[in-house]
Parts: sequence; C-alpha cells; structure tokens
Amino acid sequence: MTDRRPVVVYGASGSTGRLVAEYLREYSIPFVAAGRDKARIQAVMDKVPGIETADYEIAETDGSVESLTELFDGREVVCNVVGPFLRYAPPALEAAVQAGVHYVDTAGEQLHMLRVQDEFGPRFAAKGRAVSTAMSIQYALHDIAARICLETPGVDSLELGSYACAIPTVGSTQSIFDVIRAQAHYLEDGQLKKYDGVELKDLVVPGTGFVLKGTNWGGTAMPVFFKNDRRVRNCKMYVAMQNQDIWRRVLDVERLFKVSLQWLPDEALYPLLDRMAAMMTPGSPPRENRQIQRSVDWCTARGNIATSRVVIHSSTGYQMTGLMQAYAAMRLLGNTYNGVGFRSPAELLGHRELMGALESYGFARITEESAS
Ligand SMILES: NC(=O)c1ccc[n+]([C@@H]2O[C@H](COP(=O)([O-])OP(=O)(O)OC[C@H]3O[C@@H](n4cnc5c(N)ncnc54)[C@H](OP(=O)(O)O)[C@@H]3O)[C@@H](O)[C@H]2O)c1
Repeated sequence: MTDRRPVVVYGASGSTGRLVAEYLREYSIPFVAAGRDKARIQAVMDKVPGIETADYEIAETDGSVESLTELFDGREVVCNVVGPFLRYAPPALEAAVQAGVHYVDTAGEQLHMLRVQDEFGPRFAAKGRAVSTAMSIQYALHDIAARICLETPGVDSLELGSYACAIPTVGSTQSIFDVIRAQAHYLEDGQLKKYDGVELKDLVVPGTGFVLKGTNWGGTAMPVFFKNDRRVRNCKMYVAMQNQDIWRRVLDVERLFKVSLQWLPDEALYPLLDRMAAMMTPGSPPRENRQIQRSVDWCTARGNIATSRVVIHSSTGYQMTGLMQAYAAMRLLGNTYNGVGFRSPAELLGHRELMGALESYGFARITEESAS
C-alpha cells in the first residue's frame, strides 16, 4: 500500500474526463487529474461542480510509456479517456500493465478492443489485474442489455440497436472517423466475420414508430465482448444517430478513404481526418441537457424456440459515461469485481449491478424486459 491517490484520470482536460472527475468526487475517491497540459487541466477542473470538496491533484505527463508508468506506479486504477484510442491508447495500456494497475477506458473503436482483449488481456491477467474497455455509454449499456437477454435459456443470437441522441465531442468525432479505416467485424456462427465496409440498415426505434438509418458503426464492441462466449453464436449491432446527417458523412469519409486517402501514411492522414472531424464538431459541445439528450438502446435475442428482448431508455450519455468510470473505479478499489484480465464492463461489474448504478442516478431504466 502507498499513500498515493489511487485513481488516475488520464485525459482529465477533455469533455469526458471532467465528468469522470465529477463522479469520482461523488464516490469520495481521491484521484489524479492527468494529461499533457497542467494549465488546461486546472482550468477544466476549476469548473467541475463541487470540485472544492474533491481530494485531487494535477499531474502532467508527456504521454510516453516511461512517463505514464511513473505516474501510474503505486496507484490502483487508471481511467483512460484520451482518444482516439487507436492512436493514443497503446502507451497507456503498456504503462498500466507495467505498473500493475487496473485499466478501464471509454473507447468505441472495435480494433482497439480486439487488441486490448488479445494482446493485453493475458498480460493484465498475469499481473492479477483487470482490463476493461468501452466502460461508457457505447457500449456498456448494450453489454447490460445483452446479458439480461442471455438470462433466457436457449437464446444464442443477439441483434442490438441504438438510437443515440448525443452531440459528439471533438474526441468522439475524431474516433468516429478513425474507425472508418479499420476493418469492422460481426459474429456469425461463433466466428468473427469481416464487413465489406459501412453497412446501412433501417432501424425501427422501439416505442416510437420512427424508422431511422443506422450503420454498423465500426462493428461496435458487442462482437468482441461475445466472441469467446460459447453461449453466443451470432452478434450484430447497428447505431442510428438522431442527427441523420452523420451516417451520410461517415459514408462520404469512407468513399474518400477508399478512393484517395488509404495510401497516406498516418502522419499525413490523421491531420486530414481531424480537419474533416472539425468541420462536423469544431469545439467542445455544451454540457448535456437531461431534457434533450435522450436515447433508446435495445437487444433482441433468439434461439430455436426461445426469444428475449430488453429496451433501455436513458439520457445524457456522456454524464452516464463519467458515472460508469467512477463506479468501476469504486468497485475495483473495493475488490468487488469479477475476474482479472480482459472483462467487458458488465462482466467485470455484474450487468444487474452496473444497471443499478445508472438507475440510482436516474440516468437509465429498463423499460421492456421480456422472454418467451
Ligand atoms: N464510447 C463512448 O460511449 C464514449 C463516451 C465518451 C467518450 N468516448 C471517447 O473518449 C475519448 C475522449 O472523449 P472526450 O469527449 O473527452 O474528447 P475531448 O473533449 O476531445 O478530449 C480529448 C482528451 O484527450 C486528450 N488528448 C488528445 N490527444 C492527446 C495526445 N496526443 N496526448 C495526450 N492527450 C491527448 C485531450 O487533451 P488536451 O486537452 O490536452 O487536448 C483531452 O483531455 C474519445 O475517443 C471519445 O470517442 C467514448
């Protein structure tokens, strides 16, 4: 045991990082607000509601494995909110495993999740530590819905949908565009299969009658979470954004990537992708509004003669993400988590318990749970 503050929020200056800080304070967890610019972090922390009663310090890091390992050493949990994760997560993961701390992040990028599972999972397990990704609105909520559906014996095929009413932050928009260049997968007959590219689907949003255009959204986390789960043979997910301009932009960027950008080296490609992302999201959006940012997420499962379905209504996905990160840190600190190595959010924390944490803050509610 050391007297160092046990939790590090890496990326504390971002839109999501400040929300993680807000909920760590709610759980009375001492933390380090870390990032690449001390002054920027301080300016952001000063605006966190209730920060005057939080036990925290600020730390600057150059983002190298050495600097991050020094920062993580003697701590318990790293909440990594520096994205896009395909670009920036590897040094943080490497440092976390070297320092021997638990690691959770907010990634939405499927290729990153596959790397975390296959490359880092066994290394964290060897250290007796847990590593979990997508501890965030996308995709912890869907993980919960799927695992409730799987409580029905005999179901083996999951189809998930999301109607997301959110204004993507700068980091989120960059991450959305980043995954367009990565191979996306779905699960069929227990095997990961490759999508040909962005796949469109008309989604009927439960309880509304709205039909919206959704995409396979980079494959999502769900096929990764269930690829080693012998209960699940098939798994696909589609996401429809309330802003129906976004799927068109995603298709445009995919076309541009295939026609002219795919040959560019990363150092030339990233600034271009970021410029396109900035055209959609030029700066940090305002704090979400509980009356406006309302989403619907669902999972339908079936087997030969069994079926089950779960619908979750929720609001303010970024705030929910802040809560999930802090709740995970609390459970990891308290040694009340399930297993080490790679764990999906709901596997690590229990799907009913994680749902309970969201419900207790009034963020999300299961509005339909049926089995037959
Ligand atoms: N899956 C989900 O549901 C979900 C939910 C929330 C967030 N996210 C993901 O979480 C990530 C962060 O989101 P956000 O909303 O906080 O975005 P944001 O407001 O744009 O913040 C990005 C954060 O990353 C830091 N950062 C960027 N590039 C860096 C680099 N090269 N080295 C060190 N730090 C760097 C930024 O630091 P500076 O301030 O110094 O620039 C800032 O702290 C994104 O990838 C987003 O997609 C996902």
